[in-house]
Amino acid sequence: MTNADNFSSLFSEAEQAWNLENLYADLEQVNHKPLKPLEKACLRGLLCRYRPGQLAFKFNWTSGALRVELNKGLYRYIEELTNHPSNTLKWELVGDWLAEKGYKKLESQRDEEQNTNQDWGEAPEIRALLGREVEIQNLKLSIVGDRCREICLWGMGGIGKTALAVKLAEQIHSDFDYLIWRSLKYIPPLSQFLADLCRFLPNSAVKVDELSQFIDILKTHRCLVIIDDFETILQDGELVGSYRQGYEGYGNFLERVGAERHQSCVMVISREQPKQISILQGDTLPVRSFKLQGLKKLGAIALLQTKGFSGKEGGVEQLIQQYRGNPSALKIVATTINELFNRNVSAFLKQTALVLGDVLQTLLYEQFERLSNLEKDVIYWLAIKRRPTSVADLRADLPSSGSELLAALESLRWRSLIEKIEEKEEVLFLLEPVLSKYVNKKFVEQVSQEIEAIAKEQNLLKIKLLSSHSLVEDLAPEAVRAVQIRMTLKPIKDTLVRCSQNIDLSQVLSKSFVKNEFLEANLTLLGLWL
Ligand SMILES: Nc1ncnc2c1ncn2[C@@H]1O[C@H](COP(=O)(O)OP(=O)(O)OP(=O)(O)O)[C@@H](O)[C@H]1O
Ligand SMILES: [Mg+2]
Repeated sequence: MTNADNFSSLFSEAEQAWNLENLYADLEQVNHKPLKPLEKACLRGLLCRYRPGQLAFKFNWTSGALRVELNKGLYRYIEELTNHPSNTLKWELVGDWLAEKGYKKLESQRDEEQNTNQDWGEAPEIRALLGREVEIQNLKLSIVGDRCREICLWGMGGIGKTALAVKLAEQIHSDFDYLIWRSLKYIPPLSQFLADLCRFLPNSAVKVDELSQFIDILKTHRCLVIIDDFETILQDGELVGSYRQGYEGYGNFLERVGAERHQSCVMVISREQPKQISILQGDTLPVRSFKLQGLKKLGAIALLQTKGFSGKEGGVEQLIQQYRGNPSALKIVATTINELFNRNVSAFLKQTALVLGDVLQTLLYEQFERLSNLEKDVIYWLAIKRRPTSVADLRADLPSSGSELLAALESLRWRSLIEKIEEKEEVLFLLEPVLSKYVNKKFVEQVSQEIEAIAKEQNLLKIKLLSSHSLVEDLAPEAVRAVQIRMTLKPIKDTLVRCSQNIDLSQVLSKSFVKNEFLEANLTLLGLWL
């Protein structure tokens, strides 16, 4: 196939909503020459709301090169055609400007409305899901075929629950009137969570309570509601399935959604199976539970191939078995084998003890311990910030030089521990979700230990994180601060209350000459600095 054939088959779905032939003809008139197949493909992709970075990925180009190409040509013709000043077009405006000019088909207005019936919240974009054909098929049978009311997809961290659910939802959303995806990773109280769902979903009658109102919506419309990271509101270190204090209402939520008749499906994604679901579920009942296992051999090999392995290396099968086909674990460990063992899987296996128990937890622990101090500091900051962060923002908080920081970010990316995204022409970094859960817990533990050590030994020598990181950032957006208080400050306070009756730092603080803004702010927040 020629390059032109390749391009012409891409994003053909744009045809459904746009008068492409007219649009091409008018752009060619503005430009005084025919559009290139690549330009037409970009135009269709942008009209389907793909970002330039995603287009570049599809075309096997670098995003920088594609941006140059767009800036040189297509963007300029569109500005001229839509009577906008030169150099003012951004990719996200392409559809709006051309729709205003009447290039959108009328009947597609309805499709557009259908799109507003979807709110993907924090669902990540998954480029390629390897393996999982059987799992997708089984879930479809239950959700679309048997019209189950409540589905729980559960399994260990990093096993691929979120990735699978995203791809599944992309395939089945047309069976529903509404789709909403929400994560509980910032542990919203139930009332806040329900209010958020009801705000998006169509609701007419005001009911006595939010839960009844939500269930009423599930009855009158066919909605697909996906709730990710459910385990965050379950209690750590307690019997499986019990809720954090103050979050017990979620149990009642699951019970009613599973037990009452309605035409929707609520899908709960969790590392642990909530108690209510284990009671209500059954293979032929409207509530079902799926435990997700690791990737099978072929899927796992395909994943390793994306990391530069051929899949034929000696020891590959044993490696897959050892890490139980866990995609996250395999991605991380593949980098180590590349980096330290020159892709020799058997040599790696000989060196490492058999991992038992929670493979991912063990692996993350080992990976984290291997990082340089600067890499650890960056990871902690990204965990605190809880949002994509630029190099400039990280520099403001870290004492290292720009080049050291860039090297650390590159190294972390190489280790598959952070992701780089480009947003509105800006490069931002964020933690891999699996790692962010692990690091938050570790941060809380470390800080609590530091405080206990100061109190016990009555000196400030053991201080590290307390003087290098903020528990709550002064300048963060209000919503992020609220999460930092809930996820970091409060658990530290709770740990301190549980571990020691009375922490008194007044002596040691009055004796020492402390001049550190993080330390002062953190101790003040914890009520230990008066
Ligand atoms: N089938 C797959 N093919 C390719 N990549 C995958 C697959 N499944 C998972 N991944 C990748 O592995 C990583 C972990 O997957 P995911 O976030 O879905 O795990 P999870 O089970 O939701 O973990 P957690 O319990 O931490 O939420 C992600 O980077 C994801 O894109
Ligand atoms: Mg997940």
